[in-house]
Amino acid sequence: MASTGTTAAAVPEVTLRSGNGKPMPMVGMGTASFPVVHEAVRDAVLAAIEVGFRHFDTAFLYGTEKPLGDAVAEALRRGLLRSREELFVTSKLWCSQTHADLVLPSLRETLENLQMEYVDLYLIHWPVCLRPAGGPPKFPNRKEDAVPLDVAGVWRAMEECQRLGLARAIGVSNFTTRHLDKVLAIAAVPPAVNQVELNPAWQQRTLRAYCADRGVHVAAYSPLGGQNWDGRGNAVLDSEVLAEIARARGKTVAQVALRWIHEQGVTCIVKSYNRERLKQNLEIFDWELTDDDRLKISHIPQRKVVEASGLFSQEGEFTSVDPAELNIVEE
Ligand SMILES: NC(=O)c1ccc[n+]([C@@H]2O[C@H](COP(=O)([O-])OP(=O)(O)OC[C@H]3O[C@@H](n4cnc5c(N)ncnc54)[C@H](OP(=O)(O)O)[C@@H]3O)[C@@H](O)[C@H]2O)c1
Repeated sequence: MASTGTTAAAVPEVTLRSGNGKPMPMVGMGTASFPVVHEAVRDAVLAAIEVGFRHFDTAFLYGTEKPLGDAVAEALRRGLLRSREELFVTSKLWCSQTHADLVLPSLRETLENLQMEYVDLYLIHWPVCLRPAGGPPKFPNRKEDAVPLDVAGVWRAMEECQRLGLARAIGVSNFTTRHLDKVLAIAAVPPAVNQVELNPAWQQRTLRAYCADRGVHVAAYSPLGGQNWDGRGNAVLDSEVLAEIARARGKTVAQVALRWIHEQGVTCIVKSYNRERLKQNLEIFDWELTDDDRLKISHIPQRKVVEASGLFSQEGEFTSVDPAELNIVEE
């Protein structure tokens, strides 16, 4: 990991291997929240900018591109930012858009939503392809909507987005090592980032080692265990192991989780709409865990939370993200 400087809140940054834009701050604010309340998202992003966030994560799926764009426009009006250049903004191509001829128009729609000339990072949200559908994504995915994913065609269209300067860097999300094998085999511009579920209760050791070997930077979503996505509680915020470490360090459980992720060289994409918690989530850079803390964390039972049940179900075309099932088109 190459650290190249700091943001307003002294957040370390990483230079992305194949990006031609600015370095990525190693903590970003997540904006996925359901249902989406435009004003709530806009106000939270404004609060985040005020406390020092300069990295924002959205997606066509979330419906938060517009409120994020409105917040940035308002921050510029208020003088909280001098220019949009100060921000690192990520968005994602949804599964009904993973068709070679839909990538560029989808990014243009995203840019219109964001009121921006470019995104800093554009990701393929899932290694899944659904029949094109106008309007907002619908759930659950129906069996008849699933179609083969043309990885090579879609990735070349992503490369074109970067060549045109509309995406400063391009990458993937929810890709396993086997999906990455397929992209890396055909890529002229390798993915700069793989954004995946990662936290002390889902540590992704194999994937991290694979990505480190190949220069793909890893970003962690649901770093605090997510928003009860599987209805089974929170394996991170409710962890007794993390709570004990937090008490000993005089930190919160959330800070211990984020600090552990940071120490793995991984970028945290963390969602909070609360000013105090937003602030807290940036205060992880001037202290460290001990070897004993790290050992205890390495023994935390592992549990994946994001099952994407709207995409994968026993009744649907895909029961899991296993590439053997995803019907990826080979060249
Ligand atoms: N690529 C993908 O497929 C994918 C999938 C899921 C998520 N994501 C991205 O990753 C982002 C983060 O993941 P996530 O939204 O699943 O969940 P998360 O960041 O792990 O956790 C968010 C939850 O923790 C709470 N929280 C935040 N800071 C806290 C603190 N300091 N102390 C206690 N609680 C705290 C938040 O509530 P409050 O708002 O009340 O603080 C929220 O309910 C998303 O918003 C999205 O941008 C990407």
